[in-house]
Amino acid sequence: MKPRLSEPARRYLKQVRDIFGDEIYLDLNEIDPEPEKISGDLEAFHREVCECQKCPLGKSRNKFVFGVGDPNASLLLVGEAPGRDEDLKGEPFVGRAGFLLDQILKAIGRSRYKNVYICNVLKCRPPENRDPLAGEVEQCEPYLLEQIRLIKPKLIVSLGRVAGQTLLRVDKPLKSMRNIIHDYYGTPLMVTYHPAALLRNENLKRPTWDDFKKIRDFLEA
Ligand code: URA
Repeated sequence: MKPRLSEPARRYLKQVRDIFGDEIYLDLNEIDPEPEKISGDLEAFHREVCECQKCPLGKSRNKFVFGVGDPNASLLLVGEAPGRDEDLKGEPFVGRAGFLLDQILKAIGRSRYKNVYICNVLKCRPPENRDPLAGEVEQCEPYLLEQIRLIKPKLIVSLGRVAGQTLLRVDKPLKSMRNIIHDYYGTPLMVTYHPAALLRNENLKRPTWDDFKKIRDFLEA
């Protein structure tokens, strides 16, 4: 008799295939619970800064997008800035790209609420989703640094060329920032593709999955 898959297992395999194509990857191992860390008061910091008007984006935003996730996360994901959906909801990566990101996290046994924290370099949406300006980064990056100080992640992963270039202060293509463990003020940082890029170009799914396997291995080492 043919073995039958349960409905959740079938759904899981379909999701993995949707993300990574016909070559199916499985990662069903439970991640060991990580040791307790004393969590800083992220929520108090959020309340302290959420009315920020240090740059003109304070006037044009709908919502200040502080970040979402586990305040004790070992993995911190950093995008460039909120887009339209994020600006309306007040949460990072909630559009189609966010859904794909959630699927990728699931494939390494994590989620945006479990062992992961997600935020952006800029906490407010730039008009028409243009790239962050140097002056905006200068005002906003200290918020990211404080989030890192409170969360104490083992690894930061920046999503996409713009976030990578901004954090590393380089003007290099994404390809040449990948596959390197950089240093961001004392915390290891890796650069991978932005999930929105995967929606535009299927061929990036494979190298992205390679990156996330390295991310998983780094976190488990
Ligand atoms: N792109 C980003 O870089 N960040 C978001 O929050 C959403 C889309």
